[in-house]
Amino acid sequence: MKKIKWGCIGCGGIADRRTLPGMMLSDIAELVAVFDTNPEATARCKEKYGAKYGCATPEELLAIDEIECVYIASPVFCHLEQVKMAADAGKAILLEKPMGLTTEDAVAMKEYCEKKGVLLGVGFLMRFASFHQKMREYVQAGKLGQIVSMRGRLDCWYPKIEGAWRQQLATSGGGSMMDMAIHCVDLLQYITGLKGVEVTGFIGNQVHEYESEDGGSFTVLMDNGAFMSVDANFNAPYSRCEVEIIGTDGGLFAEGTVGQVEGGNLRFITADKETCETTVENIEVELGNMYTKEIDAFSVAYAEGSKVAPVTADDAILNQKIIEVGYKAAKERRALKVN
Ligand SMILES: NC(=O)c1ccc[n+]([C@@H]2O[C@H](COP(=O)([O-])OP(=O)(O)OC[C@H]3O[C@@H](n4cnc5c(N)ncnc54)[C@H](O)[C@@H]3O)[C@@H](O)[C@H]2O)c1
Repeated sequence: MKKIKWGCIGCGGIADRRTLPGMMLSDIAELVAVFDTNPEATARCKEKYGAKYGCATPEELLAIDEIECVYIASPVFCHLEQVKMAADAGKAILLEKPMGLTTEDAVAMKEYCEKKGVLLGVGFLMRFASFHQKMREYVQAGKLGQIVSMRGRLDCWYPKIEGAWRQQLATSGGGSMMDMAIHCVDLLQYITGLKGVEVTGFIGNQVHEYESEDGGSFTVLMDNGAFMSVDANFNAPYSRCEVEIIGTDGGLFAEGTVGQVEGGNLRFITADKETCETTVENIEVELGNMYTKEIDAFSVAYAEGSKVAPVTADDAILNQKIIEVGYKAAKERRALKVN
């Protein structure tokens, strides 16, 4: 397969830390151009990743003919406008999560890309971690029996920083739940194939005095009757994550598998229902680079002319909607249907 040529808009944050280094390890993707509103980030990334062009505006990058796919990793409030610009330029788009400030914006992006006939995928890359792929295999093979309960949590310490876009609702669309719990929502639905239908929960600012929430906890009713609980905190002293899926025949328990680098551990726990004697299988996998896998999967979908991205806008819209409905439910102190 010939190398697919990429441009990157918003190259100074997660792109520089993780995604572009991951792209460098790909045999089928080549970074051609970068743009960031911070010219130092543009110059640094052009040099560091050997891109042909360091652009002064997104228009300049999108006018480069040879670019086929664009990775948009700017702050959330820029996504809607930049997706439309990239679609107008006929580029396939891999957009960082969450899609937009609101579900309405996310739906508008999906419809715009469909109208323009360009592929749109979303960066829920935790799916590509080997442990999460293995969890999906176990569920699909029926090893867990009927799924009855699942949970995901993701924590970190994120103090007030003047001007930080994640800390203001107009630029982020939400705090710890929209930024981090959304990964758990995506992952649990992806692994189990179940979909959230109703949400209730709480959000608050217990520690940090910024506009977006510094912590939250949602309970989601799934379409098979199971319960999903997701928690995310910007006010925890250390980064921690756990993902657990419980079925009538066994449970999967992962620690440290949701993060910026593949790692952690995974156990499959079964029990004799009469004696309650448990058996724990420590599952081994070969760890890889999620970012390379994410870029490769999107490049292949584009090269094959697929109309369906590896992580679809529809899935990303549902994730966003669950968080958005959770916010409303928390505010109104009740449970609300997702659709
Ligand atoms: N998939 C993941 O695990 C993951 C991890 C981190 C961030 N993200 C997502 O990536 C996106 C960016 O987050 P981040 O942590 O890198 O943010 P960041 O603030 O660290 O970096 C954003 C970069 O975009 C630049 N920028 C600002 N406005 C811009 C514009 N209009 N056009 C182009 N560039 C612009 C900034 O100068 C900065 O270099 C968000 O959607 C975030 O949710 C995803």
